[in-house]
Amino acid sequence: FDFNAENHARAELIMSKYPTNYKQAAIIPLLDLAQRQNGGWLPLAAMDRVAKLVEVAPMRVYEVATFYTMFNRERVGKYFIQLCGTTPCMVCGSEDIKKAIEDYLGIKEGQTTADGLFTLREVECLGSCANAPMIQLNDDYYECLTPKSVVELLKRCKSGNVPPMGRWGSLPLNGQVSCEG
Ligand code: FES
Repeated sequence: FDFNAENHARAELIMSKYPTNYKQAAIIPLLDLAQRQNGGWLPLAAMDRVAKLVEVAPMRVYEVATFYTMFNRERVGKYFIQLCGTTPCMVCGSEDIKKAIEDYLGIKEGQTTADGLFTLREVECLGSCANAPMIQLNDDYYECLTPKSVVELLKRCKSGNVPPMGRWGSLPLNGQVSCEG
């Protein structure tokens, strides 16, 4: 693994923001950059590359990459679904959302579809409890979901027509709604 020319320039810019005697402060943004370049996950070689850049032992980078759940150490689908399963979302129906996703995609939590399009992972609170239940899809939040609307969202992803992030509590998905919508 190596950064492409564009990301190499970005990496240099990131590192320039930190003291030269404390390059390891850039580990997290550099891992994020590497993960984005690599289709959403971090092979060992990418972590090693970051370690070399910030001049620390590879173990220091592995420690960071394994601590934060935002870093994937295995391949994930093009659409990475993080389903919040913490209490407020659970009380508002996250189990039903999970079942709807699993049934529609034919996978269980933690798995990736055979076509490599979707990965489903249950995670802890994503800070959007007021709009529960919700999922994070790649970088975006989809909130106030129902089992029906989450399937509609996945269908749209499949057709390459990903709707904008927001509150998608009711059908048809012709506009963003309040959670009561
Ligand atoms: Fe689900 Fe906080 S509990 S976003």
